[in-house]
This record gives sequence, structure tokens and C-alpha cells, in this order.
Amino acid sequence: MSRAVRLTVAASVAAIVALVIGMIAGGRAFPRIIPGLPDSGVVVRWGLPLSKLLMDAAGVVTVGLLLMAALLLPNDKGVLGKSALDYVKAASWAALVWAGSAFLAIVFGVAESIGRTVPQILERTILTSYATQTTQGVALTLVVLFGVAIALFSRGAITAGAAAGLLVFALVTLLPAPLTGHTSSSPNHDLATSSVSLHLLSLALWVGGLGVLALHALRKQPQLDVVATRFSRMALWCYAGVGLSGLFALVARLGAISDLWTSEYGLLALAKIVAFVLLGYVGYWHRQRTLADLRAGKPRAFTRLAGGETLLMFATVGVAVALSRTPPPEYSIPADRAFELLGFPLPPPLTLSGIFTMWWFDLFFAVVAAALAGLYGAGMVRLLRRGDRWSWGRTAAWYIGVALLVFSTQSGLARYAKVMFDIHMIEHMTLSMVVPIFLVLGGPVTLALRALKPASRRGDRGPREWITTILNSRFTKVVTHPLVATAIFVTSTYALYFTPLFESAMNEHLGHIWMTLHFLISGSLFFWVIIGVDPGPHRLPYVWRLLMLFVTMPFHAFFGIALMMMGGVIASGWYEQLGRTWGDTLLQTQRDGGAIAWGFGEIPTLLVLLAIAVQWYKDDDRQARRADRRADRTGAGDPELDSYNDYLARLNRADKGE
Ligand code: HEM
Repeated sequence: MSRAVRLTVAASVAAIVALVIGMIAGGRAFPRIIPGLPDSGVVVRWGLPLSKLLMDAAGVVTVGLLLMAALLLPNDKGVLGKSALDYVKAASWAALVWAGSAFLAIVFGVAESIGRTVPQILERTILTSYATQTTQGVALTLVVLFGVAIALFSRGAITAGAAAGLLVFALVTLLPAPLTGHTSSSPNHDLATSSVSLHLLSLALWVGGLGVLALHALRKQPQLDVVATRFSRMALWCYAGVGLSGLFALVARLGAISDLWTSEYGLLALAKIVAFVLLGYVGYWHRQRTLADLRAGKPRAFTRLAGGETLLMFATVGVAVALSRTPPPEYSIPADRAFELLGFPLPPPLTLSGIFTMWWFDLFFAVVAAALAGLYGAGMVRLLRRGDRWSWGRTAAWYIGVALLVFSTQSGLARYAKVMFDIHMIEHMTLSMVVPIFLVLGGPVTLALRALKPASRRGDRGPREWITTILNSRFTKVVTHPLVATAIFVTSTYALYFTPLFESAMNEHLGHIWMTLHFLISGSLFFWVIIGVDPGPHRLPYVWRLLMLFVTMPFHAFFGIALMMMGGVIASGWYEQLGRTWGDTLLQTQRDGGAIAWGFGEIPTLLVLLAIAVQWYKDDDRQARRADRRADRTGAGDPELDSYNDYLARLNRADKGE
């Protein structure tokens, strides 16, 4: 048996043993007595967690293999080398196992939910209705479909771009299943959803990346030092992400800190925290010792430690699956529909001070804002340390944008936006028309291109090369085409509010995240084309930019008027369930929302006109200075000016009759 196979077997055994211990400790290894629901037997009791464990492990491994192929191994001008191609092929098999285990989880899930044995439920109609009509069933069906798609597409992937696309697809596939367990029933489900999503994304990159790196080392594959150094840089961020998101996921489920040692759920979570600390120590040891040895041509210590670390990580995944099967401690929450839907009690009547004092922690956008602020700051610091200059105006614009993003998603505005349509419209307009203006004026891509160093190996792609590849890609050319960017910006607003999409987005936290992200991204795309200071495939002359702005804004005004004239209430199901008894009627807040959408266009128009005027003036000024410099350097002036002067001289001579 090769060393790589031995590690795979040992990691599987570690994960299964940890799962079994976790299930016994959590009380889920024994039949549960639920009145009216027969026990579905030992096969289902163990089959379900084992299939979930296989699903988690296969998902994590697929991510790790694609990460290795796309980003960790050096490539040649975007074409994958032999090792990378092997990893993509292996990812195809891992994705197939992922899809298969999700299918098994559907079968066992049905059996458990109706208290039958597996042979009793192998009837097509029961399976189909579970897979298509229950939240858990739909989530698992998505994993089956996406897993098969990744398996098929991986067969033909030969470029780093294709592998990176598949990596993103695999990361998205990780999300649906865990979001339907305790997460959906957690009292603070917004925090639970965001934290578990971030937990899974960061842990898949970390655990999957390390597992595949350990196999790479055991198989004595080339470029181990490069791959290990790249992974180590990324691992620190993933480690922080796993720890923070894990703690938030826990806070969303526990009623009191004492639940940690008084409940089975808490004790299993404590076991994960201990494992997390140990893994941190191992990572520290790699940085202190083994990576340096590896670079010095002594890979033994690194390989051994990485193997041990992989075993501990997979054992922790086993504990995690047992944790997700263990009921969290019960605690009393207000029996109130509004609380259930919002994750917080219905706020009191709206006041201006309420907007500034009733802060609401939205983990997802807090992370987005922190990343935007941190990365920009890091880029600036690098330039300044190098002795380069960076515009303070751009910096101020960027941080105003980030501050407005924080205000829109974390202040009382975010709370009331869920309860009142007019406040939602203020939030929407700020996120799609004010925040993006400031962000694009910050010139983030220019800063990144100046701050990042080119890849150390010729033909390879580091972060800087990835940015230029994405900028020059066909996708970017299409979405930043002025017509496409305008169409996305305008039509999506109509599509959201005049179809059932808005109500669905309000009902689901993930839907709400997508909606908010969409406002931000579509606005940024549109304003990037008009006033962006970064290099882009389509930079329009200033007159065209003005035209684009003036053609687009009336569509927003029409949208506002259409809202004001509507007789029915949009997303009435959502708003009625909240049971708000104060303030205007639902129809009136919708009309006010329409008026806000209509009038709000003035603010961005003014800001954009100002930005275009400044850019135009600076551009003219820059061109004049460039012409002067050329004249000084070559003794020749601006060709247009020179020919005009010649023309005047000829006229002068003709007048004098020379
Ligand atoms: C500070 C340390 C950590 C804490 C507090 C923590 C907490 C949590 C919580 C509360 C959940 C949700 C469980 C549920 O659905 O009820 C979760 C899920 C999960 N955690 Fe962690 N975790 C930590 C570290 C880790 C580590 C180090 C790993 C792996 C190496 C890991 C792997 C997982 C996995 C795979 C899931 C999803 C399980 C599933 O639903 O199938 N966690 N974690």
C-alpha cells in the first residue's frame, strides 16, 4: 500500500471513529423515542450520519483538488501542467462520490423523517416528493445535480481559468445542505446562516487544501516548496475564518455560555474548539520549522506533520457531523411570528434616533466591509512603504463607500428595511447608487495592480496576473459593455419588484444576501463604466458617459412612478406576517417607497456629474502637460498646434505679398 493510500485510509478511519464517539456522546447513537414516529432502525440511524460524513469529506476533497490545480501549483501561461491535470481528473471522481453520497443522504433522510426502514421507502413517489418538496430534500438534490455537473466539466478542464471556475462552483455546492439543518431552525437564523456559510467556505479551502498538499508531499510530487508556501499564506486566513465563523455559529445556537459544559451539544462543540487550538499550534510549528526545512531541501518533517494534521482535521469533521445531528439545547424564545421571521423582535415605531441607535450585526456584510477596508489599507501601506504615492482623494472615496456600506447593512436602517418598504427603498438606493459611486472612485483595481508584485516564475499566475486575466477576459468585456451594464442595472430592478422574487428574497436570509449583493454589484458595474478610474475594456468618451447617465436615470424615475401607482402590495405575504400595528399602511409605505425611488436619482446624478467634470478637467490638464513635456523633450510641439501656427504664418506671408 502506498503512503498516499495509507493516509487516505487513516483519515477515513479517524473521521469515522470521531463520528461514532460523537454520536454516542451526543446521544444520537441510540433509538429516539418520539411519540407517533416509529424508529427507522439501525441502518438508517447510522446510514444518515455516515452518508453526511462522506458528503462533507468528498466536498472538502473536491475543493482541495481544484484549489491545488487552479491556484497552488504553478501553471504555464494559464495552461495546467501534468500534476495539475491529474488533480482535476481526481476532482472529477471526488465530485461523483459527493453526488452519490448526497443521494444516499436523501434516501436515509426520507426514511428517518417518516420513521420507516430503507426497503419500505424505496418507492419512487416518496423519494421524489421528499427530494422536490422539502427544504432538506431540495438542498440535497442540488448537491447531487451540481456534483454530477462538476464531475462532467472537470473531465474537459485543461486551463487554470476553467479549474478556478470549477473551484467556485464546488464552493457554492457546499452551501445548501448544512444550511437546512439546525441553521434554518435556529432562533437567530440570519447569524446562523451567514456563520455556517463562512465556516464551510473557509474550512473546505483549509482542510481540503491541506489534505491534498499532504498527499502531494507523500507522492513526492514536484514543486512542493512552492505549493506549501502558497498554501501557508492562505491557510492563516482560512484558520481565522473557521474559528470566528464557528464561534458565531455557536453563539447563534446556544442560549447561555453554561450550555457549553452542561449540554451534549456544548460538549461536542468544546471538543471542536480543542481540536481547533491544536490545529493552530501545528500551523504555527509549520511556519516556525518545517517550511524552512522544506525550502532547505528537507521535506521529511513537513510531510509527517502535514499527515498528522490531516488526520486531526478529518477527525474534527467527524465530530462536526455528530454535532450537526445533536439537538442544540432548548431555550425559550418569544413565541412571536415576527421574531421567528426577522431573528429580532419587531422594532418600535420608527424614529430618526432609532436608525442611529438600533444597530444590527449582519455577519456577512461585516466580513465584506472588513475585507474591503483591510485589503485597500494593506495595498496603500505597501505602496507608501515602497516610497510610492497614492491619492488621498481616492482613499477618502473608498472609505466613505465602505462606511456607507456598514451603515446601510448594520444600523437601524437595516432593521427597519425588513419591516417597512419605504425604508427598504432607501437602503436599496443607497447600496446601488451611492455606495458604488464612492467605491469605484477609489480605484481598487489600479491600487491592486500597483501594490501586487508580478509572479516570481515566468508564465505563472499570481494574484496580479489573475486580476489582469479577469480584466481581459471575455466575461469582463461582455458585462462591462455599456449596454450590458446599463441593462443589468435597470432591468434587474423591474424584475425584482414586479415578480415574486422580492418576496422570496425577503423570506430567506441567503436570498436577502444575494439581493443586497446584487444591488451593490450591479451598481458598481454601472458606475465603474461611467466614472471608474481603473483600466477597463470599454472606456467611453466623456460625452457618451453623460449620455449614458441621462438615458438611464429616467428608467429609475419610471420605476418609482410605477410603484406609486400600483394598487396591490408587493410581498404582502411577508409584511402581513410581521403584524406591524404602527405607522402607515402597507400600501402607503409602498407609495412612499416609489416616491423615494423617483426622487433619489438626483443624488447620484449630482455626484456623477461632479465626478465627470473633475475627471474631464484633469484629463485635459494631463493632456496639455503631456504635450508640453513632449515639446520640451523633442523641441516639437503638439502636431495640431504646429500645423495651425504654420497656417497662420502662411497667411501672414501672403498678406505681406512675400
Ligand atoms: C472554534 C472552533 C469551532 C467551532 C466553535 C465550530 C462550531 C461549529 C458549529 C456550531 C457548527 C454547526 C453545527 C450544527 O449544524 O448544529 C459547525 C459545523 C461544521 N464544522 Fe465547525 N467549529 C469549529 C471548528 C471546526 C473545525 C476545525 C472543523 C474542521 C476541521 C470544523 C468542521 C465543521 C463542519 C464540516 C461543519 C458542518 C457539519 C455538517 O453540517 O455536516 N469546524 N461548526
